Amino acid sequence: MRKLHVSAPTKLFVLGEHAVVYDGRAIVTAVDARLHLIIRHEETEAGELEIHAPDVGLHHWQTNLADTLQKTDFSGESSFIESCLAVFNREVPLSGKFYIQTQSNFDPILGIGSSSATVAATLFALAQLFAPQITSMQLFEMGLEAIRAVQQKIGSGADLAAAIMGGTVYYVNQSPRQITALEIQSLPMVSVYSGKKAPTVSYVQQVKQLRDQHPAVVDPIIQTMLTIVDDGRDVINAGNWEALGRLMNIQHGLLHALGVDTPWLAAVVMAAREAGAFGAKLSGAGGGDCAVVLIENEKRVALAESLASIRREILPYELHASGVREES
Ligand code: PMV
Repeated sequence: MRKLHVSAPTKLFVLGEHAVVYDGRAIVTAVDARLHLIIRHEETEAGELEIHAPDVGLHHWQTNLADTLQKTDFSGESSFIESCLAVFNREVPLSGKFYIQTQSNFDPILGIGSSSATVAATLFALAQLFAPQITSMQLFEMGLEAIRAVQQKIGSGADLAAAIMGGTVYYVNQSPRQITALEIQSLPMVSVYSGKKAPTVSYVQQVKQLRDQHPAVVDPIIQTMLTIVDDGRDVINAGNWEALGRLMNIQHGLLHALGVDTPWLAAVVMAAREAGAFGAKLSGAGGGDCAVVLIENEKRVALAESLASIRREILPYELHASGVREES
């Protein structure tokens, strides 16, 4: 029996959410709220798969391995892990008994990317066990296929890029997809939960619908967002946080224009600006989940006080965290 323990980070969008969906670009940072995965594999005659993922309500869930490997349609809590096994199996045939256990050190309600972390961790673990020559970029391509099989072809892959590479990445969602690590030591950014969970897929569809209804209005907004992403990459590389803060504020305004801001997110953004942040914006699809705040360390106490007045707090997770990795 072989056993491996790996972990993958979650993510937050620095810039470019929604715009990245339309063959666009985004800047995403890995978050040290990690998903841990332990995989055990035994060479047995009969193929079997058992998943224990109490965070998503799976308790010693079992199936025949062959059934999973043949699937193209996935539903339920085991979807992402099953989809990864099916995709991996097309490159490297799998057999035997798999026991996969996951556990995260964050609340899934935060909406910061537990599915991309699950996919990164599952594929990385499989690669370590069966095909260590597989590159990060190959893992990324497999992971994107696995995610899109579950999410009805929705998913830019930006979250997965951060989960696999770690740090803060500039991601280009065009063929061939490109992931560039930004050369910074740290990112003076924190995250805040808005108090409400949001379903990503329905907000992506909502923005798509708005774009179909008003292409002449929405397309220029998306183009401006992409300019913001490219300028953002340059100012991050130059360590110019004032400029990045301004760009984040503009990006938030454009996301508001696309209809994905909420009173809860807006309250966090305003509280952050009152506390003297360089900038603040919602992160991800919107409708709830988290906001990101770019702020100097010395101002974090003021930020915490400002957030307390709206009953919110800074989340205790480091950003610009390491990517998927083996744990000892
Ligand atoms: O809501 P999140 O954190 O899963 O982010 C979604 C980001 C979008 O750009 C709206 C969609 C995507 O696939 O990139």
